[in-house]
Amino acid sequence: MGTLDGKVAIVSGSGRGIGREIALKFAAEGARVVVNDLDAEPAEQTAADIKAAGGDAVVCAGSVSADGFADRFVGTAVETFGGLDIIVNNAGYTWDNVIQKMTDEQWYAMIDVHMTAPFRILRAAAPFIRQANKAEIEAGREVFRKVVNISSVAGLGGNAGQANYSAAKAGIVGVTLALAKEWGRYKVNVNCVAYGLIKTRLTAATADEAPAIEVEGKQIQVGVNPDLMKTLERMIPLGRGGTPEEAAGAVYLFCTSESNYISGQTLVCGGGFMM
Ligand SMILES: NC(=O)c1ccc[n+]([C@@H]2O[C@H](COP(=O)([O-])OP(=O)(O)OC[C@H]3O[C@@H](n4cnc5c(N)ncnc54)[C@H](O)[C@@H]3O)[C@@H](O)[C@H]2O)c1
Repeated sequence: MGTLDGKVAIVSGSGRGIGREIALKFAAEGARVVVNDLDAEPAEQTAADIKAAGGDAVVCAGSVSADGFADRFVGTAVETFGGLDIIVNNAGYTWDNVIQKMTDEQWYAMIDVHMTAPFRILRAAAPFIRQANKAEIEAGREVFRKVVNISSVAGLGGNAGQANYSAAKAGIVGVTLALAKEWGRYKVNVNCVAYGLIKTRLTAATADEAPAIEVEGKQIQVGVNPDLMKTLERMIPLGRGGTPEEAAGAVYLFCTSESNYISGQTLVCGGGFMM
């Protein structure tokens, strides 16, 4: 018996990093998962690994920022698995620059992927959630659904070189707060996890191992300056950056029945580090 038996989850950006571990954890706990990433290949890999471990998953590839994606993502869950219980807005990347060098394209790319795309996915889920809740009330059942939006300590305390990312990650906290109030009546717990330093390709040291990633035809350099990385790690009370598995654990906590009376919260998952 898993803690998420019978649940259906959609996890954006689950081909790699934290999102992949969230999808694997959900599936290991019995949820059926819609896996998404920009390209089909990493998403197919996550889905194959879930199936190899005895779970159930389906892929919905494409950019969360693309026109029509939100309806396709929600529709895949409802059409393939007959429901939607958990929504995790995780997909994203960084595109850093000091403000005098930051282009409008850089600014809007971060707002689009970290704030507008989650908004559209949640809006697309609204008709299903309202209808399902109505049927459950009529049947005399109280069923909780879960939304977990992914923010960052940069969205809570700011980060130099990340005016675009910090703004978007602060914005998603606002979306979380508003929707917790709006969707309480439908028994949806809407929460946020704000990560500190989690070791993924997004935070690899720029000088050596961080790749330039391709996002919708653009080559974007992600990663953290190695000197900044050493400083950051010294500031983490638990003494190191987190693993993607540890990061997934924070999202999972919000998706268990034990969190049914928790909504509108932002949980910092950063080894004790606060900006
Ligand atoms: N790693 C950290 O320290 C850290 C800290 C704070 C917040 N976060 C947030 O956690 C989330 C996951 O990051 P990660 O560290 O696992 O990075 P990652 O690069 O390892 O994984 C992110 C995944 O999202 C996908 N993605 C990016 N843009 C997408 C789009 N438009 N549509 C669909 N998929 C897309 C990528 O292809 C990638 O597979 C992001 O929202 C990130 O901002 C990470």
